[in-house]
Amino acid sequence: YGRHGNKKAMAQLLVTGGAGFIGSHTCLTLLNAGHHLVVLDSFANSSPTALHRVSELAGTEALFRMQIVEGDVRHPDDLNRAFQACKSNVEAVVHFAGLKAPRDSILQPLQYWDVNLVGSLRLLEAMRSFNCRTIIFSSSATLYGFPEIVPIPETAPICPVNPYGQTKAAVEQLLADMTASEDGWRIASLRYFNPVGAHPSGRLGEDPHGQPNNLFPCIYQVAIGRRAKLEIFGADWPTPDGTGVRDYIHVLDLAEGHSRALDLLMQGDFQLLALNLGSGQGHSVLEVIHAFEVASGQRVPYCLRPRRPGDVAITVADPSKANMLLHWHARRGLGEICRDGWAWQQANPEGYPC
Ligand code: NAD
Ligand code: UFG
Repeated sequence: YGRHGNKKAMAQLLVTGGAGFIGSHTCLTLLNAGHHLVVLDSFANSSPTALHRVSELAGTEALFRMQIVEGDVRHPDDLNRAFQACKSNVEAVVHFAGLKAPRDSILQPLQYWDVNLVGSLRLLEAMRSFNCRTIIFSSSATLYGFPEIVPIPETAPICPVNPYGQTKAAVEQLLADMTASEDGWRIASLRYFNPVGAHPSGRLGEDPHGQPNNLFPCIYQVAIGRRAKLEIFGADWPTPDGTGVRDYIHVLDLAEGHSRALDLLMQGDFQLLALNLGSGQGHSVLEVIHAFEVASGQRVPYCLRPRRPGDVAITVADPSKANMLLHWHARRGLGEICRDGWAWQQANPEGYPC
C-alpha cells in the first residue's frame, strides 16, 4: 500500500542495464515490490549470472515476473524486441544501461557519447513509439564537477569536468526538452553519489571488469592480498584528515530510492524531477579504511600518493529533496556497507562466474 493508503499498482517495467551493479540490486527490489520486469542488457559490463541470482533471491513466486533480452540500447531492433517481450504495455522504463568510468571517457569519448547519449536517444524514440512516457534515468553527482557548495543541492550549477559527466548532463537536457515538447512525460533523473556495498547474502555485488580504480574495489584487493597496499590519492586536501571525502551510499538504499521514485512518478502528475540520492554524510578515505578494518577484521596497509588528476576534495549530497518527496533516506551506514561489501568479495573473489 502507498503512503496514502491506496493499493500500489504492480507495473510492467523495462529495465535497461539491469544486470549491472546498481541494476541487479534494483531488479531484486522491484521484483520484491511485485513488479513485472523485462531486462534489456548487452552484458558489455556484466554477467547473466547476476540476473540468475536476482531470480534465486526473489524466490520461485517471482520466477515468471522477470524476462531477459540480450541486446543493445543503441539498436532499435533490440529495443523493439524488449518492448514486445513485455506481456502488457510497458508502463515505465528504468534506464541504467551506460558506460561509467570517468577516466575511460577521456580516452574513448566517441564510445561514451555513443552508448550514453545515442543509447538514451534511441530508447526515448522507442518509448514514444510504444506510448510509454515514464522513465527513471541514472544520472550522477559527477554533473556538479568541482562543487562550490557542500552539501550539494540539486540547484547547484551543472558543470561536468569529463566526457562521462558531459554525457549525463546532455541526457538530462534531452529529457527536459522531451518534457517541454509534449505532455505526458514523467521523468526522474536520479543523481547518485558513491554507490557501494552489496546484497547481504553475498550473492550480488559489484564485479568490475579489468583493473578497478574506485576506492572500495581497491580496498578489497588489498584485503585479499592481491595488492600490497592501498594508494591514498592525496593527504593534503582541505578536509579534516587531509584525505578525500565522499558520500558513500549502500546500493540497496539506492535500489529502494528507485522503487520510491517509480511509485511517485506513477501515482503523480506529469513532471520532470532531478533528485540527489546520497546519504548526506561524508567519510574520508582514512575513515573508510578504519571502518573496513573493523567490519572485516582485515588490515589494510596504505601509502600516501599525490592527488589523482580530476579528483575533488569533498562531494556530499544534500538529499533533502529526495528525503521529502520520496519519503526515503539512506538507512545503511558505513559499517553495513563494509560488512556487506566484504561478504560479497569473500564469497566471489573472482566476481561472477562467466
Ligand atoms: P554497470 O556497468 O555495472 O551496469 C551498466 C549495465 O549496462 C551493465 O549491465 C552493462 O552490461 C549494460 N550496458 C552497457 N552498455 C550497454 C548497451 N549499449 N546496451 C545495453 N546494455 C548496456 O554500472 P552501474 O554501476 O550499475 O551503473 C548503472 C548506471 O548508473 C550507469 O548509467 C552509470 O553511469 C550510473 N552511475 C553509476 C555510478 C557508480 O559509481 N556506479 C555513479 C553514478 C551514476
Ligand atoms: N581513492 C584513493 N585510492 C584509491 C581509489 C580512490 O585514495 O585507490 C580516493 C579518491 O581519491 C577519492 C575517494 O577515494 O577521494 C573515492 O574515489 P572513487 O574512485 O571511489 O570515487 P569518485 O568519487 O572519484 O568517483 C565516483 C565514481 C564516478 C562518479 C563519482 C560521482 O567512480 O563515476 O563517484 O558520483 F562520477
